[in-house]
Amino acid sequence: MIKIENLHKYFENKKVLNGVNLDIEEGTSSVIIGGSGTGKSVLIKCILGLLTPEEGKISIKNNFIFENGKFKKNSKIKIGMLFQGGALFDSLRIWQNVSFYNIQNGKNKKFCFEDAILNLEKVGLSKDVVNLYPSELSGGMQKKSCFSKGYFH
Ligand SMILES: Nc1ncnc2c1ncn2[C@@H]1O[C@H](COP(=O)(O)OP(=O)(O)OP(=O)(O)O)[C@@H](O)[C@H]1O
Ligand SMILES: [Mg+2]
Repeated sequence: MIKIENLHKYFENKKVLNGVNLDIEEGTSSVIIGGSGTGKSVLIKCILGLLTPEEGKISIKNNFIFENGKFKKNSKIKIGMLFQGGALFDSLRIWQNVSFYNIQNGKNKKFCFEDAILNLEKVGLSKDVVNLYPSELSGGMQKKSCFSKGYFH
């Protein structure tokens, strides 16, 4: 499902990933374990395309999404990501957080509100939470809201 070959990532002259190889089978769950600051998040960000490695190959479902120093444009692979720290805006209500992208792109308020309810339902959150602020949700509910925000756009 995910194959990584000889991945290298540097920041200035700091070497974080030094020839990482990884093979993850479809339908399995994997955990990347290591000490703080050892490159786990950097590795995941490279797979997501948020960071560009210096060298190596990344393929998903047998399609190379990164090779020869470049990410392939128009890759149809969809990846869900839940960030380590909550990525909700404190001063916005949950529906405004979940629909942030649509709001920024000028979609009307009713659409954004209803779309947020649909996306929250997909992660098991009821519409009772839509008008709350992040601090009024439990840690797990905040994580679910983040996932709903990031995944369904
Ligand atoms: N954007 C960046 N610019 C410069 N250095 C970075 C950047 N992102 C990460 N690093 C450095 O890369 C190293 C690995 O960071 P990373 O975030 O991958 O650690 P981690 O294994 O996820 O740690 P933790 O368990 O604490 O989350 C750290 O030394 C960090 O300072
Ligand atoms: Mg990390």
